[in-house]
Amino acid sequence: MRVLKTKEEVSSLVGQLKSQNLKIGFVPTMGALHQGHLSLVKSGLDVNNVVFVSIFVNPTQFDNAQDLEKYPRTLDRDVELLQTISDSKIIVYAPSVEDIYSDNVISTSFSFDGLEFEMEGRFRDGHFDGVGTIVKRLFEIVTPNNAYFGQKDFQQLQIVKKLVEKYDIPVKITGCEIYRESSGLAMSSRNERLKTEYKKEAPFIYKTLKAAKVKFGTKSANKVAEWVEKEFAKNDLLELEYFIIADVETLKPVKRKSKQKKYRAFIAAYADDIRLIDNIALN
Ligand code: PAF
Repeated sequence: MRVLKTKEEVSSLVGQLKSQNLKIGFVPTMGALHQGHLSLVKSGLDVNNVVFVSIFVNPTQFDNAQDLEKYPRTLDRDVELLQTISDSKIIVYAPSVEDIYSDNVISTSFSFDGLEFEMEGRFRDGHFDGVGTIVKRLFEIVTPNNAYFGQKDFQQLQIVKKLVEKYDIPVKITGCEIYRESSGLAMSSRNERLKTEYKKEAPFIYKTLKAAKVKFGTKSANKVAEWVEKEFAKNDLLELEYFIIADVETLKPVKRKSKQKKYRAFIAAYADDIRLIDNIALN
């Protein structure tokens, strides 16, 4: 498998591929790959001739130095895992911080029409400026035809769609279903760090989301939120950061339900010092 380290190597290869009219798919990641990432790569391979996978722990999207430091970095294992799908059609781009940022490790300020102020934006300072900065830069380097993002980070997916629209970037964004462990826990690179008792308890998040979905059929968003908050208050291991039912387009919390709108319920919760997020479509 080709593992490229610099943007020059990527540009040169992309030039060759495009001169042969080949379609390029792209899956940006921060590594510590799991089946969820592989499902994105497989979606990419279905409709593109090659899929680039970037593996880069982006410093500007972390608001917490410890979280950045502890983020798992497992390049060799990641490459092995990708090889199980295809050796020749996947190209890894694993740049250094210097390759991406030179000596200026800062993010650009973006406006995503308010999407950036909701949920994760309220709890993770500067996070979406960091995501916008890296995704835009990676799109400029890889210039993919198609790019794939998981719906686990649903807000990120909507923000990337907004980024592409605002900057007229010629790439089609596909949001892929959340990939879950058999317990229902949404797959995440952070799951690896969960201690056994927390790992056992973490599926409670999805279980609660599923129950919230049923309740939303007959109850108001406020009543459902109250119920979820009570359920978490009874749980000694998981600490709820937020539960929000939001309009999928604006990501604003729903005040009064409308049949014309689509809603999702979102949870962020701590299991020990590990922050987990998940969400579910409600209608
Ligand atoms: O979802 C992620 O892993 C990251 O936010 C992304 C999109 C790779 C940008 O660093």
